Amino acid sequence: MDKVKEVLNIGSKGAAPAPAEPSPDVLAELKSRYADAGQGHVFNFYDDLSASERGTMFEQLAKFDPAHINDISQQATAPAKASDTPDKLEPLPDQALASILDSKPDDIKKWYESGVDLISQNKVAVVLMAGGQGTRLGSSDPKGCFDIDLPSHKPLFQIQAERIRKIQELAGKKAGGASVVVPWYVMTSGPTREPTRKFFESKNYFGLDPANIKIFEQGVLPCISNEGKILLENKGKVAVAPDGNGGIYQALVVSGVLDDMRKRGIQHIHAYCVDNCLVKVADPVFIGFAASLDVDIATKVVRKRNATESVGLILCKNGKPDVVEYSEIDKKTAEAEDPKQAGVLKFRAANIVNHYYSFRFLESIPQWAHKLPHHVARKKIPYADVETGETIKPESPNGIKLEQFVFDVFNMLPLDKFACMEVRREDEFSPLKNARGKGEDDPDTSKRDVMAQGRRWLEAAGATVVADGGVEVSPLISYGGEGLEKLKGTTVTAPAVLELE
Ligand code: UTP
Repeated sequence: MDKVKEVLNIGSKGAAPAPAEPSPDVLAELKSRYADAGQGHVFNFYDDLSASERGTMFEQLAKFDPAHINDISQQATAPAKASDTPDKLEPLPDQALASILDSKPDDIKKWYESGVDLISQNKVAVVLMAGGQGTRLGSSDPKGCFDIDLPSHKPLFQIQAERIRKIQELAGKKAGGASVVVPWYVMTSGPTREPTRKFFESKNYFGLDPANIKIFEQGVLPCISNEGKILLENKGKVAVAPDGNGGIYQALVVSGVLDDMRKRGIQHIHAYCVDNCLVKVADPVFIGFAASLDVDIATKVVRKRNATESVGLILCKNGKPDVVEYSEIDKKTAEAEDPKQAGVLKFRAANIVNHYYSFRFLESIPQWAHKLPHHVARKKIPYADVETGETIKPESPNGIKLEQFVFDVFNMLPLDKFACMEVRREDEFSPLKNARGKGEDDPDTSKRDVMAQGRRWLEAAGATVVADGGVEVSPLISYGGEGLEKLKGTTVTAPAVLELE
């Protein structure tokens, strides 16, 4: 163990020691590491700090390897090399694809039943990606605490928790009253961890057993100036940002989540984003589908609305599963028609970041996590001037945040270990990205989509819904539209809410 790690006690178990000032030789070692990497300016104000501030800053700086930070920021900012041969893009092969839109009802039923069985055998867990900073939404709380103004005012976290409760109940019933647990692993980041923990506690874990909820933290990376220098947030702190939703892989290992899954005998994992109010958490159909194909990753997609919609596409690139951003494909490719279905786009599998993983695949994370590339997000990052220490709030993007993407792992898999399921957008995908008033992917569209789904469910069950507006159906009553038969023949005046009591 090197001197810096020894002082930090990295790698040992137990409570972290309060940050103490390092000895002069340990400090000198760290300083020279940063100086050698051309990042010595981070120590410019070190001597002006109090002893405890110095301890805190030392602790933060010692966690990063400045030479590695230089490497990944150089790779991320290097212009992509033009390849001599253009990428060969094809839709995924038929055997890796299914669509809820046109699958046989018997197939969907079979996947559902086998998914529920796996859940009832306590082999299924869910991982929530909730480490983003939600800058576009502009709320100071973590996104999962957001109230999209449903009649019940349930925040996103609660909607998801209640879907877990319901699926546990449905699976338990199918297994003759077995006690079923779907552990919920909630990935947060520096800024969202504590508020998320407090929120869960204050809401009594939404009726779930806290023993089955693990809130863990993804990593952070320093923010870098356009000139490649590590930015300081203030005299005693480097400006950092979460390392992207691809940070999930490293975090699953480092936080002990994988160990916990192993202990519990988890074999199938559903991972999803916090901002989708329609997400079918631990969806048995999806789990059953992926497990039946024995794949390592499966992903849900929705149908791309039209050739110009700005969505990433899941497809086969040079013989491997991959995601291609809308900006990376030409007009002709975007507009190409499926030769088997007139009027339907050939490349239509829009990525909604909703994944299945086999546990055996997650166990291999240490072998490949370091290979995931970093991407550049150009942002306005407040920083401390390295000469004066004065805080500057830039008007235009002055630096980059380095992010890994959760789907960059796809092309490490052979095609036969990857599958894709097309689902109905109106039933499964309505992301909350923007602040109210934007008219797209904002709190109003989230509310509208939840309410419209409830109305459809009631009408399908034989109820009559009168007046404009939708119906909020508590997930504790229905996970996916089932169990509403007793409403047949009744009249419900919208907007309405159906709660358990
Ligand atoms: P987005 O990329 O939409 O980011 O995240 P965001 O933080 O929600 O919003 P903006 O871009 O700042 O406005 C998609 C999903 O990935 C998670 C988010 O919490 C969300 O569920 N995510 C994103 C992480 O878990 N960690 C990250 O570092 C970034």
